[in-house]
Amino acid sequence: MSDSRTRRYLIETWGCQMNQHDSEKLAGILTALGYAPASNAGEADLILLNTCSIREKAESKVFDRLGRLRRLKVDNPDLILGVVGCVAQQAGEGIFRRAPYVDLVMGPRNLSQLGQLIDQARREGHSIGLARDDDPIDFSSTTTGRAAGPKAFVTVMEGCNKACTYCIVPFTRGREIYRPHAEILREIRELAAMGYIEIELLGQNVNAYHDGAHDLASLLHMSDRIPGVRRVRFTTSHPGHLKQGIMDAMRTVPTVCNHLHLPAQSGSDRVLASMNRGYTRARYLSKIDHLKKTIPNMAFSTDIIVGFPGETEADFDRSLTLLRDVEYDQVYAFTYSPRPGTVAPGLASALPENVKQARLQELLALQESIQLRRNRDLVGRSFEVLIEGSGRLDNGLLKGRTRCNRIVHTLGPAHRGDLVEVRITRAHAHSLIGEIPQSSGPA
Ligand code: 5AD
Ligand code: SF4
Repeated sequence: MSDSRTRRYLIETWGCQMNQHDSEKLAGILTALGYAPASNAGEADLILLNTCSIREKAESKVFDRLGRLRRLKVDNPDLILGVVGCVAQQAGEGIFRRAPYVDLVMGPRNLSQLGQLIDQARREGHSIGLARDDDPIDFSSTTTGRAAGPKAFVTVMEGCNKACTYCIVPFTRGREIYRPHAEILREIRELAAMGYIEIELLGQNVNAYHDGAHDLASLLHMSDRIPGVRRVRFTTSHPGHLKQGIMDAMRTVPTVCNHLHLPAQSGSDRVLASMNRGYTRARYLSKIDHLKKTIPNMAFSTDIIVGFPGETEADFDRSLTLLRDVEYDQVYAFTYSPRPGTVAPGLASALPENVKQARLQELLALQESIQLRRNRDLVGRSFEVLIEGSGRLDNGLLKGRTRCNRIVHTLGPAHRGDLVEVRITRAHAHSLIGEIPQSSGPA
């Protein structure tokens, strides 16, 4: 490659919102280093796979993808191939052994070293940046290369201090570190001034946030007072940290949306105990009930793991009844996947894959019917929708979300970033279709 040509990068992202936002930060760093985005892998001089290791399948996808990208190095020997994110932190040097053609390995707490690691990889053939638990994190956001509005992510904390027996996150993202509230508010102010009107506060255990002076509830109150901010969300919440102050803020702070993602993981107390989740089904449901009673049209989503070691038919049935009791708007369900270094694989014997799959399908089918019924009840009602852009299908429909986080497709007329009233005309299990009455325009 001649040095007169602008270098191009491609970032492929797996995993959670934390990872999506990390990719925005990486894009920002690369832009500052003079890189431009590549439109495909073939024209890239730098390819970063931002990886997830939450389940074994997510991890093996990374190595499949690396195997396919490898041949690009034949045509472009200068190509830097990097593995970043959670698989990088977890597998470390092991990535070079399994895929020796990888040039760069960098964990999720090392993003600010990217420039240095690229230089080192070009000089020495490979480079590696992995954090230890007590290493500080550079939370600075000025170079974040954000997706176009109207919605922006803001990191409030990193890491997780919980010890759920199935979960690899404490190993990949380390212990909790909280960003000072003044820095968070400054970033939100800057975003609002740039026209981002919906803010999603991010942390692996976001409702455990505190910086000595302030907790998540006070962050919600303070964000609400920033001019231009119209909607605030936060994710992911642990049911054990859903304190009364946070629930009160959800009820009283106007910009906070009436949706909560509250991972239950299981409906069985026996399984919850062996997952070390620190709450019972009754305690979980008491918080859901409180929010339902105090906040109009409150909506919930959750994560459920099926086929945890030792999960009986009766335990699984408790998860099904949890779905019926709560009536979630969305459920992210997964079959249990044993992860290296975690406690769960030693707790009880593993369930056969076909049993796990059958339970997953049964749970998904139940949830599909619940969602369809709930969504059909909304036909004829109107909701405030924030238009995010075009839908995935090339059918001219715009895609937006209600405050309760339901996806709505509409023909418009509206533009990305508009807040419009949409009357629901049709319902699917995973989305709604609606129209904007003639008289109504952008709010
Ligand atoms: N196997 C299956 N699902 C898992 N999750 C976390 N660890 C595992 C695992 N080992 C799920 C949890 C979590 C979501 C992000 O992924 O439900 O909330
Ligand atoms: Fe995946 Fe967890 Fe890492 Fe997010 S934090 S990318 S879900 S392993």
